[in-house]
Amino acid sequence: MGELDGQSALVTGGSRGIGRAVAVRLAAEGALVAVHYGGNDAAAAKTVARIAEAGGRAFTVRARFGESRAVQRLFDGLTTELADHGADGLDILVNNAGIHSASSIGQLTEEEFERLLAINVSTPVFVIQRALPLLRDGGRIVNIGSASTRIADPHQIGYTLTKAALAALGPSLANELGRRAITVNTVEPGVVLTDMTAHYAKVPEAVAGLESITALGRIGEPEDVADVVGFLAGPRGRWVTGQTIDVSGGTYLGPITPG
Ligand SMILES: NC(=O)c1ccc[n+]([C@@H]2O[C@H](COP(=O)([O-])OP(=O)(O)OC[C@H]3O[C@@H](n4cnc5c(N)ncnc54)[C@H](OP(=O)(O)O)[C@@H]3O)[C@@H](O)[C@H]2O)c1
Repeated sequence: MGELDGQSALVTGGSRGIGRAVAVRLAAEGALVAVHYGGNDAAAAKTVARIAEAGGRAFTVRARFGESRAVQRLFDGLTTELADHGADGLDILVNNAGIHSASSIGQLTEEEFERLLAINVSTPVFVIQRALPLLRDGGRIVNIGSASTRIADPHQIGYTLTKAALAALGPSLANELGRRAITVNTVEPGVVLTDMTAHYAKVPEAVAGLESITALGRIGEPEDVADVVGFLAGPRGRWVTGQTIDVSGGTYLGPITPG
C-alpha cells in the first residue's frame, strides 16, 4: 500500500531533471502521474517507462508553455487521459516546468524577461486556475521556486524575479484554499544536477566553489528535492501550508568554519 494509492498527480516538466524525480517519487507511492512536458518526447516516454518498470502508473501530456493556448492543450490532454485511466479528478499539482537565464541587469532583454515571466510565472498561475475545479478537497499544490531568491546572485536577475513572484503566490493561495484542506507550498532548490545546470557542473572550479559554500558539501540530486515534494504531497505534509522551503543542502547559510 502506497500513501498516495488512488490519487492522481500532475507534474509539469516531468520529462527530465527534478520533475522526472518527482513523478517517479509520487508514482512509487501509488499515484497515477500525468507527466507533462514541452517537446522532448523521448525523455517523457523514459519517465513513464521508468515508472511502469517499478510497477507504477503514468502517462504523458505534451504542451509547449509560452505558446498560444498551451494551458488549454495541457488540460484537454490531461482530462482525456485521466478519464481513460479511470480517474476523474486531481489530488496533487506540482508546478515544476521552468526555464533559466543567466543575465545580469545590464544583459537582460525585454524579450528574455517576457519569456521568463510567461513560462515561470503566468503559466503556473493559469495552470492552477484551470486545475482548481479538478482538484479534490485535501489536495496539494507544490510550486518549484529557487533558492536564488535568498542568495543574492546578480547574474540571474530575471530568473530570480520570476521565482520570487512564484513564491509570493503561496501564502495568499494557501489562505484561499485552506478551508478545502488544500495546501500550497513552494520548494526552493539550490543547484541540482540536471540538464539545466549541466554546463555549470562541467566546470570543476564552479563545482568546488559551490561545495565550499554549502553546509552539506555537495551539489543536489533531483531525488533530494523529490523527497521533500513527496512529503508535502503526502498525508504527512497535511499541516504545512503557505510556506517556502529551502532545499539546498544549506547553500550560503554563512561562513563555514569546520570544527
Ligand atoms: N536544476 C537546478 O539547479 C534548479 C535549481 C533551482 C530551481 N530549479 C527549478 O526546478 C525546475 C526544474 O528544473 P530542472 O533543472 O529539472 O530543469 P530541466 O532539467 O531543464 O527540465 C526542464 C523540464 O521543464 C520542461 N519545460 C521547459 N520549458 C518548457 C516549456 N516551454 N513548456 C513546457 N515544458 C517545458 C522540460 O520539458 P522537455 O523535456 O519537453 O523540454 C523539462 O521537463 C525549474 O522550475 C527550475 O527553475 C532548478
